[in-house]
Amino acid sequence: MYVCMYVYVCVCVCVCVWSHVDTRPNFVLIMADDLGIGDVGCYGNNTIRTPNIDRLAQEGVTLSQHIAAAPLCTPSRAAFMTGRYALRSGLGSHGRVQVLLFLAGSGGLPPTETTFAKRLQKQGYTTGLVGKWHLGVNCASRGDHCHHPNHHGFHYFYGLPFTLFNNCVPGEGNDVLADVELALQHLSLLLGLSLLTLVWLRVFGLLSASVRLLATLACVTVAAVAVWFVPFGFLQTWNCIVMRDQEVVEQPMVMETLTQRMLKEAQNFISRNADQPFLLFLSLAHVHTPLFHSPAFAGKSHHGVYGDNVEEMDWIVGQVTETVDSLGLANNTMMYFTSDHGGHIEDPIRGGWNGIYKGGKAMGGWEGGIRVPGIFRWPGRLPAGRVVDEPTSLMDLYPTLKHLAQDTQTDRPLDGYNLMPLLEGSSDRSQHQFMFHYCGVYLNAVRWHPPGSDSVFKVHYFTPNFSPPGTGGCHEKHICQCHGDHVTHHDPPLVYDLFHDPSESRPLTPADEPRFAEVLERAGEAAAGHRGSLTEAREPSRAPGDEPGVPSQMSWEKILWRPWLQPCCGTFPFCGCQENATLAT
Ligand SMILES: *[C@@H]1O[C@H](CO)[C@@H](O)[C@H](O)[C@H]1NC(C)=O
Ligand SMILES: *[C@@H]1O[C@H](CO)[C@@H](O)[C@H](O)[C@H]1NC(C)=O
Repeated sequence: MYVCMYVYVCVCVCVCVWSHVDTRPNFVLIMADDLGIGDVGCYGNNTIRTPNIDRLAQEGVTLSQHIAAAPLCTPSRAAFMTGRYALRSGLGSHGRVQVLLFLAGSGGLPPTETTFAKRLQKQGYTTGLVGKWHLGVNCASRGDHCHHPNHHGFHYFYGLPFTLFNNCVPGEGNDVLADVELALQHLSLLLGLSLLTLVWLRVFGLLSASVRLLATLACVTVAAVAVWFVPFGFLQTWNCIVMRDQEVVEQPMVMETLTQRMLKEAQNFISRNADQPFLLFLSLAHVHTPLFHSPAFAGKSHHGVYGDNVEEMDWIVGQVTETVDSLGLANNTMMYFTSDHGGHIEDPIRGGWNGIYKGGKAMGGWEGGIRVPGIFRWPGRLPAGRVVDEPTSLMDLYPTLKHLAQDTQTDRPLDGYNLMPLLEGSSDRSQHQFMFHYCGVYLNAVRWHPPGSDSVFKVHYFTPNFSPPGTGGCHEKHICQCHGDHVTHHDPPLVYDLFHDPSESRPLTPADEPRFAEVLERAGEAAAGHRGSLTEAREPSRAPGDEPGVPSQMSWEKILWRPWLQPCCGTFPFCGCQENATLAT
């Protein structure tokens, strides 16, 4: 009797579950850091080996004109996560600092923004982020975690709340305001020397400086030393940390085992969630400097330590694909591979390669700064080997995921479009007639793909001043800037047709392009309409020139280091801990 009932209940449950079979796919999104489009085999590189990325392309759809919304990590990632230009979340910068510099700053992705992870979470997905975040941690006190991935839609987080950067390895140099650090060092040295001189003169009775004056000077000197030494001298401890959810598990992080641990975490997340819809965002630390030196890949590529790094990154992609496939998840998992922006061309040994495209990282207008790899694989649903040449954006991921997760709730205005019609081939026209290319908060260029035409016009309102002139980058400043003397404004703007001139080598003139005047006019109108869409005020503006209503997250006041926001394991300021290394094996 009980057995019968048990069988009956079982059958019923099975039938019910079967009739509600979840047709929604899983998502595995992989983003490389600073990888150039020219660094990848299937994008034309025949000397670097990326067989695993190339395999995804063979089995899926390759986007040849996939565009990042900004040429640097923080704003590009903000736009990717939210499906909206970074300006809308206050992550566009007015000045030289365009990425978050200290984990203990208060800027970051505002709690009022919605990410694709949050939308999927609401749809019943289990969501995880493994790897780099770089969109802030705390707002007002250590541990409020207002910008933390756990509060932006990720059930699980393991990785770098900040980023990999040179300061993570002693001797690799300082990436953070090195000139400010130097100026502060000189100032403290000057103060120290004057103090010594005064004391010396007094001791020998040559000067009757009061003890009070000397004491004050001593205090000022100590304060000046502390102001540069505490935030800058401990950058490795402050910024190079690993968190699991909201706990700091390693500080400073151990680079040697980081690759293995991140890969393991990604694979475990997939296996753990194999029988329910999941989203994994694997945000790699590769191929940002300082470059990893894994023994298995060291010296194996034809392109030095940078090439070794790219090939190791490709190996990670292969391992993750293998995990998806071996669990039988391939046919209901959409895999995506991209980079956050173009390669860093100012560093010829340790930087990336943007192929035929002009410019690179930090250049918001030139194609090399923003055109990145974009590959989707979903066997059974997406055609294998398809190439889409239409303009697409990293901001398209948000509406695409939303669509596939059957999230029909209307949302705030988005700047991306659902990519499924283009990926599946039911449409051959991108919905992006216009795209706006930002450098910080400044509108650098407008892209127009006129209906019914192959042309992709790009109108540059300003271009970065290369230094030394004639080179393709800004050597002295390490990366190009977007404002002031660092750029040249063009009136009339420079116009290129990327369809005929993808390298942006020959600006068009009214004589050789009959639509020249029309291009300027349409781009101008579109930019004005776009600006209008930014002025739907929500809160009073704080910094002049900001999107009205959106407080800037990139002001000095938000960016600078402050002790009470510093994530720390142990007792502040003696932060330090190490994760159990056996995890890696
Ligand atoms: C391949 O990538 C390497 C490393 O960035 C670069 O030096 C080389 O020029 C690239 N080759 C081609 C053909 O694009
Ligand atoms: C996955 O889809 C492909 C293409 O439609 C099909 O050939 C294959 O048999 C499917 N695999 C599984 C495990 O269903």
